Amino acid sequence: MSSLQQVHGLTKLFFKEILTEGDLAIDATVGNGYDTAALYEILHPLKGELIGFDIQEEAISEAKKKIPESFNIRWILDSHATFDRYPEITNVALFVYNLGYLPKGDKGLTTMCTSTIESVQKALHLLRRGGGISITCYRGHLEGKKEIEALEELCKGLDPYFYVATWTHWINRKDCPSVLLIRKLRA
Ligand SMILES: C[S@@+](CC[C@H](N)C(=O)[O-])C[C@H]1O[C@@H](n2cnc3c(N)ncnc32)[C@H](O)[C@@H]1O
Repeated sequence: MSSLQQVHGLTKLFFKEILTEGDLAIDATVGNGYDTAALYEILHPLKGELIGFDIQEEAISEAKKKIPESFNIRWILDSHATFDRYPEITNVALFVYNLGYLPKGDKGLTTMCTSTIESVQKALHLLRRGGGISITCYRGHLEGKKEIEALEELCKGLDPYFYVATWTHWINRKDCPSVLLIRKLRA
């Protein structure tokens, strides 16, 4: 099993544990749409809805190919640091981030530490009780290392009465991304 299959296996379990009937999930980094498609598969039978964010039109048009048009999904070409500009983003069950740059795309258009942290701080407030945030992080490039350190600091400061946060690092897999999972226990 490849490293990425292991990462997707873990995140998908987390999505399934959280999502229930009529839930709203946000894919904060649509990219090629693999996470969007995984969310669709779970949410479709639950009559849930999805919102996908990406700053690149190229990413959104690629991801659109993976989701049937009949599904309740909204695509937003904007930074995930702007969640609070969209009033429909409230009582969210799940936020999914897959940080870094679009594979085979422009490596300059990577997620940035400052906007990632701004976005996650907003997501923490927009989560419903029992909701979660899944963040796949890559330490193989400088900005990715900064994001991991800043996310660690942010999570250390979370009140344990309201949130629980866990890292999964694959120990014997070279260059395998790490996964940060946050759960909101009380609203
Ligand atoms: C690693 S890719 C995501 C992979 C994707 N989840 C998938 O399953 O294919 C990271 C994506 O984040 C996007 N991105 C970078 N900065 C962003 C931001 N501030 N807001 C939203 N998306 C951003 C990039 O354009 C890129 O498409």
